[in-house]
Amino acid sequence: MAVVTEDRRKLHFESRSQAGRTPAERGYEHLLEFRDVSLSFKGVKALSEVSFHVDDGELFAIIGPNGAGKTSTFNCINGVYRPQEGDVLWKGESIRGERPDDIAAKGIARTFQNIELFAHMTVLENIALGRHVRTRVSWWDGALWWGRAKREELANRRVVEDIIDLLEIEQWRQHPVALLPYGIQKRVELGRALAMEPELLLLDEPVAGMNLEETEDMARFILDIQEELGIAMILVEHDMGLVMDIADRVMVLDFGREIATGPPAEVARNPDVIRAYLGEELSVASAE
Ligand SMILES: Nc1ncnc2c1ncn2[C@@H]1O[C@H](COP(=O)(O)OP(=O)(O)OP(=O)(O)O)[C@@H](O)[C@H]1O
Ligand SMILES: [Mg+2]
Repeated sequence: MAVVTEDRRKLHFESRSQAGRTPAERGYEHLLEFRDVSLSFKGVKALSEVSFHVDDGELFAIIGPNGAGKTSTFNCINGVYRPQEGDVLWKGESIRGERPDDIAAKGIARTFQNIELFAHMTVLENIALGRHVRTRVSWWDGALWWGRAKREELANRRVVEDIIDLLEIEQWRQHPVALLPYGIQKRVELGRALAMEPELLLLDEPVAGMNLEETEDMARFILDIQEELGIAMILVEHDMGLVMDIADRVMVLDFGREIATGPPAEVARNPDVIRAYLGEELSVASAE
């Protein structure tokens, strides 16, 4: 089964991962670098001199209490917010101040803390919409269904089908999203982001509100995306067990400041982290 899926992925999914190559070969030091970023809203400091980086194929997690600045970090990466200070580098080049569509087209896709799908459209249609940033033909070519447009359309369909396969949502492909269970809607949203064939995927609380079974399924899909497609991810999540189990490195934010970054087990032992989480459950055990 695994072999079959892997073959299919190689056929249809253009993995653009540079993992395993040296900085000189790929032409940049880090895939994404957040450098001394500060962001404030009318005196409220959402982020204070936050720095971190994400490498090719890495699963990087950001955790922290409510209001710590996690979603704001995503908004600074994908161009929704423009930080007042610092810089955001994509493959060594600044993307600070660029428009969200331009940043998406560079290879950074995102899912949202609150599901943002077209509720009355089907699963297939919602995922296919994610392809538009990758489509190179004009609407005119598309309308005439000629040559390149036709080839592109077929390739698009194959990628969409691969994603439906990978996320195990075949049985719902023709269902309007609004009628689906919450856990499946979250998977569809992930599918739409994947349809952009990103090199970096920003996941904002992908298991929030899910039961244990749905959470375990999502964890498996996230690991499949990392391993089979070679896509780097930043995972924002309150479910500490999940983060400690699957992340390569974790950054902890508290009141807009970075208080620790490192491998999960190390971060979980950090006294500043334990203090920030006092009163909240930190499942240190699962990090060992
Ligand atoms: N558009 C905005 N206007 C004003 N303040 C904002 C805006 N966006 C974020 N903030 C403030 O910035 C701080 C960080 O918010 P952010 O949404 O990044 O937190 P978070 O870590 O994602 O929290 P949660 O875990 O609750 O999702 C909060 O104090 C929030 O009120
Ligand atoms: Mg948030």
